[in-house]
Amino acid sequence: MIVKADKAAIEQAAQIIRAGGLAAFPTETVYGLGADAARGRAVARIFEAKGRPRFNPLIVHVADLEAALGLAVFCEEALALARHFWPGPLSLVLPLPAHPRFQISELVTAGLGAVAIRVPAHPVARELLITARVPIAAPSANKSGRMSPTQAEHVEADFGREVDMILDGGPSDAGLESTIVTLTPRPTLLRPGAIAREDIETVLGCRLMNFRKGKVQSPGQLLSHYAPRASLRLDAVEALPGEALLGFGPLAPETALNLSPTADLRQAAANLFSYLRALDALEPSAIAVMPIPEVGLGEAINDRLRRASAPRKPQT
Ligand code: TXA
Ligand code: MG
Repeated sequence: MIVKADKAAIEQAAQIIRAGGLAAFPTETVYGLGADAARGRAVARIFEAKGRPRFNPLIVHVADLEAALGLAVFCEEALALARHFWPGPLSLVLPLPAHPRFQISELVTAGLGAVAIRVPAHPVARELLITARVPIAAPSANKSGRMSPTQAEHVEADFGREVDMILDGGPSDAGLESTIVTLTPRPTLLRPGAIAREDIETVLGCRLMNFRKGKVQSPGQLLSHYAPRASLRLDAVEALPGEALLGFGPLAPETALNLSPTADLRQAAANLFSYLRALDALEPSAIAVMPIPEVGLGEAINDRLRRASAPRKPQT
């Protein structure tokens, strides 16, 4: 059920989560599917609803740095990043303390010794976290392997009544998931996202290493992910007969659905998933995608497009 995210609705969503239910809510990146991070059974429902493998851990959302400090061990670099980017689209993967002040379910971390934490900036997400007064585990609110939702209607299309409530806060600003960084053993980019690598490197004063396969389990790192039903053809100049064209920049043909006619990467990121959904609905033979520069947010956009175009495993 989609409900406009006013104060009463947020209150209700907080109650649902505190009672062990599932509520979808808007963040500045994409919509999340939230449950009380301390309740194993509620977290298990997230995995069931998404059809997500249990070995893939979830991000824990908290209201502020103070709350985050009770969940993980922050090194100096982690503190610097948190102070600079929170609230905002940065997730930090940090070691679990030996004696945590607050116990989260092992399902959330998939038994890894580290937890991913983020403090979202969206006013509805913030209000929900403050009202619920518990850390909220929330993956993107889509079926496993499919495109992330940037509107309440996308969540409803994937889950219908499988979730107890969908808070509608309008379209997500960023349209791309959070950037995920870990600092141990070295500062490493685990997933490019809504904050460009360069901006994080500036705050750290060093380069981020690239994630190497096999080290951390992450569905966002699985090769086929974020996928529409139609196959994708990347670096296209034009559409072949039967194809739909996803354009970028001033040179794209009029017939394309253009991610950003002015070649603005922020705008392209915000439009990416909803435009892919729109073209997918036309049931083309394939979606042809024009090239997007690999700088700034372009790194995350291209990451999602490459995964969406990768060979598929059978859908779960
Ligand atoms: O913007 C976002 O991050 C959205 C909104 C809802 O906050 N959430 C999101 O969650 O994208 P999800 O579950 O779709 O992607 C989370 C990624 C996955 O690739 C997961 O494997 C990784 O974070 N992750 C979570 N916990 C981790 C951990 N302890 N160690 C390594 N990777 C982790
Ligand atoms: Mg996801």
